Amino acid sequence: MNLILLGPPGSGKGTQAKKIVERYHIPQISTGDILRAAVKEQTPLGKEAKAYMDQGKLVPDEVVIGIVRDRLKAADCKNGFILDGFPRTVPQAEALAATLQTMNRTIDYVVSIDVNNEELLKRLTGRRTCRGCGAMYHLIFDPPRKEGVCDRCGGELYQRDDDKEETIKERLRVYDAQTAPLIAYYRDKGSLRTIDGVGAMEQIFQAIVKVVEG
Ligand code: AP5
Ligand code: MG
Repeated sequence: MNLILLGPPGSGKGTQAKKIVERYHIPQISTGDILRAAVKEQTPLGKEAKAYMDQGKLVPDEVVIGIVRDRLKAADCKNGFILDGFPRTVPQAEALAATLQTMNRTIDYVVSIDVNNEELLKRLTGRRTCRGCGAMYHLIFDPPRKEGVCDRCGGELYQRDDDKEETIKERLRVYDAQTAPLIAYYRDKGSLRTIDGVGAMEQIFQAIVKVVEG
């Protein structure tokens, strides 16, 4: 099963991808997570990406396309994958299609997660992530048992650098200008399935299960 999760910042792509990994045992490929890891390690990729990410802008297409192309060739993708946060522009979508074609594969579904901007802002300002295991929390909607500490591994919870109100607003603008056109792009290809992304996390997951299992 080859899936794309499409949606604005804070729509729950990462949250839902983790649930899909657990149920279907296919890997989550999050370009945001890969880039943040590179920033942390201060690799050449990380140094290039950081300035874009801190401003809420997209990292150049050729950079992320290269990352995904390599990642899709890894052995763990042989039974499928979940793309989270990629593609984000029409050129990225076209490069993905070309890469998959050389591998004799196609995208089964593009799940577009629909959430209004007011809710997105609340979700992103309250998000906290574990430095150790990457588990995600929300100060109000999904708080950890002990403030600042991960329930699962005891790691420290941190706030992402780009989750400041001004940067969030820029990310939402960038989404509308550069990523939202992919909704029409995939609708035309017949692979788009839109789900309501407001509600309980489990309820939204069930809507995704319904898309893939019918
Ligand atoms: P990326 O890491 O992909 O960030 P994003 O798209 O802005 O999305 P987020 O990760 O912020 O949100 P999400 O949809 O995963 O929501 P989450 O599940 O965490 O990209 C970051 C940057 O990297 C980009 O700005 C760009 O610079 C660069 N980049 C990455 N990919 C790129 C690409 N392809 N091309 C170019 N540049 C790229 O949920 C958010 C919060 O809400 C959490 O706290 C969660 O607990 C909570 N929550 C989730 N679901 C619910 C619910 N149903 N109810 C209540 N709360 C909920
Ligand atoms: Mg995410």
